[in-house]
Amino acid sequence: PGFLILNGPNLNLLGTRQPEVYGRTTLADVEGMCRAHGEKIGVGVEFEQSNHEGALIDAIHGTRGRLDGLILNAGAYTHTSLALMDAISSAEIPAIELHLSNVHAREEFRHKSYIARVAVGVICGFGARGYTLAMDAMLSHLETRK
Ligand code: DQA
Repeated sequence: PGFLILNGPNLNLLGTRQPEVYGRTTLADVEGMCRAHGEKIGVGVEFEQSNHEGALIDAIHGTRGRLDGLILNAGAYTHTSLALMDAISSAEIPAIELHLSNVHAREEFRHKSYIARVAVGVICGFGARGYTLAMDAMLSHLETRK
């Protein structure tokens, strides 16, 4: 199987951006962790980040019929973007919503998610480890779905 691990706005600054909230691991570190984990569990990994909503939508469309799972940390677009929600439905790919922080323990405006409505499940609050947890969760979802 192949997964797209897609990161939205401001996540390029991971490691330096509010480290008390998001940790000191950089996005390049996360990518390395995901690639190493992919080799271990037999999953191909495409890893992308964009600050632009349209580019994220294009990346989601690009998975259609080509990849098996989407792991999406949409950043603040999680809480605002109907267009990202529709892109996931259109691509017909199982998606896991991911956040480094526990969004439910934070401000009220982070409790609402458009992505969750079209996701298999949500992983949040485990920091950078959430990415490899999400990979395991997606793989087991695909296996039990068969
Ligand atoms: C985030 C949580 C979002 O609310 C926030 O806007 C982010 C990062 C997280 O990974 O914890 O940009 O998605």
